[in-house]
Amino acid sequence: MVSGAKTHAGPELRGRPNRTRRQPPAVGTEVLALAHEMRAPLGVIRGYLSLMADGSLGELPARWEQPVARLDEKAGELARLIEDLLTAARLDSGRLTTDRERLDLRESVAGAVSRAAGRAELLGARLEAELPERPVAAQVDPAQVALILDNLVNNSLSYSAGPPWVLLRVEEQRGQAVVAVEDHGIGVRRHMRERIFERFVRADDEAIPRMPGSGLGLAIARELAEGNGGALVLERSDAGAGSRFVVRLPLASDEVAQASG
Ligand SMILES: Nc1ncnc2c1ncn2[C@@H]1O[C@H](COP(=O)(O)OP(=O)(O)O)[C@@H](O)[C@H]1O
Ligand SMILES: [Mg+2]
Repeated sequence: MVSGAKTHAGPELRGRPNRTRRQPPAVGTEVLALAHEMRAPLGVIRGYLSLMADGSLGELPARWEQPVARLDEKAGELARLIEDLLTAARLDSGRLTTDRERLDLRESVAGAVSRAAGRAELLGARLEAELPERPVAAQVDPAQVALILDNLVNNSLSYSAGPPWVLLRVEEQRGQAVVAVEDHGIGVRRHMRERIFERFVRADDEAIPRMPGSGLGLAIARELAEGNGGALVLERSDAGAGSRFVVRLPLASDEVAQASG
């Protein structure tokens, strides 16, 4: 399973019979335990890096700034891999409980943008949000929505040939709360547009240097969206020109009353 996580979607993965979404390749308990073990030392590494970066350990020499930022970015990549594994294992074991409450998705998007701001800056990315004036309240688990958005935003930042350009939109559409994550990245070729939602499947695009990843992010994000009564789809993608991923979530009940009344 661990080697599977590292493998790009090679011929052996491609040739496998289609799995239904109800039986994704499971993340075993051993992997869960390992991922757990990796979390603590990585937390210490990231902690010291941030102390170095913010000057708490004394002023950082100018020539160290770039290397420290790079180390922080790489440690962040490792942390995201570990979190993907932990979340997948939690989903498999039924240990992920969904606590749905009323949540203004504008806040979720603002949170996702601020969490990604450091990485975006390092990549020279444009990361923007277009938020309506009125709240768009969904009935969802806030932490799980955060995970979904973080996954989508990080993908949009990763899978771009040039400096990334990512736009998040929140809107109410046909009685649903919707967040769209659009990018101007490398896009997904037609034959992979549904497959990328399968566990451990990654598109192999020769055009860009291989990004580190598990191939778990979209599978997890879709499972979480569905677990919250919603859906996650790749609404549009043009190879070389970008993608639009859309998360649809149930509106909070008073919003539904307003929308229909
Ligand atoms: N915004 C995007 N633009 C282009 N390709 C994407 C995008 N998001 C995901 N992909 C493709 O889908 C694959 C699976 O994504 P994901 O499940 O998040 O796993 P990972 O990012 O770890 O590879 C990626 O490896 C990439 O090939
Ligand atoms: Mg990803």
